[in-house]
Amino acid sequence: MKNYLIVGGSSGIGLKIAQLLQGPEREIIIASRKRENVPEHFHAGHIEIDISEQAFDDEMLPETLQGVVYCPGTIKLRPFHRLKDDDFVNDFSINVMGAVRTVRVCLPLLKKSAEGASIVLFSTVAVETGMPYHASIASAKGAVQGLTRSLAAEFAPEIRVNAIAPSLTDTPLAQQFLSTDQKRKLAAERHPLQRYGKPEDCAHLAVFLLENESSWITGQIFHVDGGMSSIK
Ligand SMILES: NC(=O)c1ccc[n+]([C@@H]2O[C@H](COP(=O)([O-])OP(=O)(O)OC[C@H]3O[C@@H](n4cnc5c(N)ncnc54)[C@H](OP(=O)(O)O)[C@@H]3O)[C@@H](O)[C@H]2O)c1
Repeated sequence: MKNYLIVGGSSGIGLKIAQLLQGPEREIIIASRKRENVPEHFHAGHIEIDISEQAFDDEMLPETLQGVVYCPGTIKLRPFHRLKDDDFVNDFSINVMGAVRTVRVCLPLLKKSAEGASIVLFSTVAVETGMPYHASIASAKGAVQGLTRSLAAEFAPEIRVNAIAPSLTDTPLAQQFLSTDQKRKLAAERHPLQRYGKPEDCAHLAVFLLENESSWITGQIFHVDGGMSSIK
């Protein structure tokens, strides 16, 4: 049996990852603040946790893990002069410290995986491409990218660590930017590939990064962004 922990697997990209990963000989464990957000028909374990404030207890998790995905994130966009210290601290707490706490507890369980293990973290297009009003989230996700590369170096060759940096993707987190036809049209047009993201755009890559087909890939930041970070 292969065990996968998807922190933030009850919604958006994380839920799609959990659904795509499902299969025989695979146990999916979702962690999020509210169990009721996990679709009723979906067969997965659930751990109720606010990862910005708590860490996992050992006994909540299986003895070994083959993969861990950390999805919780924030999109608090404000002009810099309106961002308070607390906004930066809160973004850092959820995006970075939640991932740090998760990896710390999971590390011994990932090390026990005989066939190797994989960690997938989430960044944002706004680290590579400077965007107005993104100072707080881009700072936090920049730290996630540093964490990704540091851990990839430290944990090789047993555990691979990669991150995905999406652009605007149609999930509950991004609803404020896609709430009208006009916003959707403009969001699509901003991307060279003329659409905003679907959860499966990132989820398929995350599943690939968890599986053995990606066993020679670590320390990478993957830009799943409709071309936004690299072409005009
Ligand atoms: N969607 C975008 O446009 C976009 C763009 C760039 C980057 N990203 C990044 O992509 C990742 C996935 O985003 P998404 O759009 O799929 O988000 P989402 O739909 O809001 O899902 C977030 C998941 O994390 C859980 N979560 C949030 N806060 C938590 C906490 N404190 N403790 C435990 N669980 C928590 C949520 O469940 P509960 O509410 O039940 O806790 C939910 O399962 C994020 O890291 C985000 O920053 C997204």
